[in-house]
Amino acid sequence: MIVAGVMSGTSADGINVALVRIAERGRGRPRHTLLAISEYPFPAPVRRAILKMMNAESACVADLARLNFLLGELYADAVAKTARQHRIKLDLVGCHGQTLYHQGTAAPFLGRKLAVTWQTGEGAVIASGLGVPVVSDFRPADIAAGGKGAPLVPFLDYALYRDSHIGRIAQSIGGIANLTAIPANTKPGQVIAFDTGPGNMVIDAVTEKLFGQRYDRDGRIAASGRVLDHLVARLMQASFFRHPPPKTAGREEFGSAYAKEFLRRCGRTDKRDVIATATALTARSIADAVRRFVLPKRGRYQEMIVSGGGANNPTLMAMLRNELAPLGITLRFSDEFGVPTEAKEAVAFALLAYETWHRRPSNVPSATGAKRPAILGKISYA
Ligand SMILES: Nc1ncnc2c1ncn2[C@@H]1O[C@H](COP(=O)(O)OP(=O)(O)O)[C@@H](O)[C@H]1O
Ligand SMILES: [Mg+2]
Repeated sequence: MIVAGVMSGTSADGINVALVRIAERGRGRPRHTLLAISEYPFPAPVRRAILKMMNAESACVADLARLNFLLGELYADAVAKTARQHRIKLDLVGCHGQTLYHQGTAAPFLGRKLAVTWQTGEGAVIASGLGVPVVSDFRPADIAAGGKGAPLVPFLDYALYRDSHIGRIAQSIGGIANLTAIPANTKPGQVIAFDTGPGNMVIDAVTEKLFGQRYDRDGRIAASGRVLDHLVARLMQASFFRHPPPKTAGREEFGSAYAKEFLRRCGRTDKRDVIATATALTARSIADAVRRFVLPKRGRYQEMIVSGGGANNPTLMAMLRNELAPLGITLRFSDEFGVPTEAKEAVAFALLAYETWHRRPSNVPSATGAKRPAILGKISYA
């Protein structure tokens, strides 16, 4: 079966598509081969609209409904273009959609306690545009099963990185950063995974604010600044970082309000130092999460395998490498395992769609905190 995986993450930078051939190799153990990947940046007005709709104060219900259908069309266009370019005929699509709101921990609402999540990008529109079935809306089923609805990528991480001798940590650095810890010689039930905090989100926000650029390309600004170590140490005291997993984060925790407070606490520091400090916060929060919540748990870990846009930021990677060296962990990249850093999540949603299509569960309960395995997503038929 040839499955397209489609991802657009919290950075709201654009759409990643991966075309994957998936074949059974007996007893529900699929083998996947990556055929093609592509990336389509969102036009600036679309990105602005997405960021606006993520913000409770500025979202309007009519535009939310419109955005749902618009994104459906943009996802369908992105997949169609990729398939056409590579002359590949698709059988199925798995589309994560654009998260507008995610609150993985139950909180009181109108007399009940609810955990909630919302991804937009209408599956019916994608299915109709492409003429193949689409699995979308993966997260609610895990929440309904008592989980936090995230992270879901551990299903792929386990398939890619498990090893009988080497303990590995899969570290994804998108807008938010999250890790999957896979001890050597382990079963899926022993995998732990959680969001470690900001990935590129705070770096992007302060770079945009102070330099008018969407992101700190190749970490050049951060490389020219000095890290305010005392501020990083103080920011690490926040309850999110101290809270044990499972835990999830999003723009709700590290979005514009957080960036504003971050800038306030930087005071009159040189602009370049602000970017360096935001970059250091990401590196420190990842290493700190490993030290606090992964290493004491189980086994030894020798490698961290990085994916996501943050892998393209050499300053961030250098900081992370320094933070991990005392822990005896070396840095590697998902490319070395056959998955380009920018495409890992898209590949994951192709695999998750494939499982759903075969009526098999694909959440990893030890990662999301779900009480039971759940078949994820909803199917729209063409
Ligand atoms: N060359 C680069 N230099 C620095 N940062 C980069 C580079 N390429 C991508 N990024 C960062 O990666 C982010 C996008 O990462 P991505 O994995 O797509 O996140 P998400 O899953 O949240 O959409 C960009 O917003 C940017 O911060
Ligand atoms: Mg992205």
